[in-house]
Amino acid sequence: MSVAIIYGSTKGNTEGVAKLIKSHFQEADLIDIAKATPEQLNAYDGLIIGTPTYYDGELQDDWAEFNKDALELNGKKVALFGIGSQSRHKSTFSDGIGILHELFVKKGAKIVGDKNPVGKYSFESSKAVADGKFVGLVIDKEVEGGSLEESIAAWTKNIKSAF
Ligand SMILES: Cc1cc2nc3c(=O)[nH]c(=O)nc-3n(C[C@H](O)[C@H](O)[C@H](O)COP(=O)(O)O)c2cc1C
Repeated sequence: MSVAIIYGSTKGNTEGVAKLIKSHFQEADLIDIAKATPEQLNAYDGLIIGTPTYYDGELQDDWAEFNKDALELNGKKVALFGIGSQSRHKSTFSDGIGILHELFVKKGAKIVGDKNPVGKYSFESSKAVADGKFVGLVIDKEVEGGSLEESIAAWTKNIKSAF
């Protein structure tokens, strides 16, 4: 099964998380969405998708510009991770991952992977929450602190078995 880790990252945090995921999933290709084409991504059997949130609840620029409509996701396994800041953006915490999740579900993607518990976080609202759970791995580096690498390792182990 061919799997790609695809991330958008303006300041490097999401790229750093993507690289950590890759370190636990060597077989997966690591791709910056800024340099990707829909045709390239459509060739994979599974996708691990990462985005931060910008501009009060919007997608990161490269994800916003990417032609998401051209993605063929029907029946494809997709796992999601998102980076945000609950202290500075309480009412739009990690919305970006929620925006991609909603779109990809509409396109028929089969969402796989652990959803980390909401309880650890403190925010007012977030599109990253569906049915009382996050839609994937949501990370706020300030909250995760020293357990960041451990959380990513555990999540990646789980999605590896789901692909
Ligand atoms: C202008 C701006 C707007 C942001 N808006 C949000 C937001 O609405 N929700 C959120 O959770 N984080 C928000 N953030 C925090 C970023 O998602 C966070 O800094 C993230 O680590 C950036 O990822 P990157 O380094 O991969 O670009 C914002 C950051 C900036 C600079």
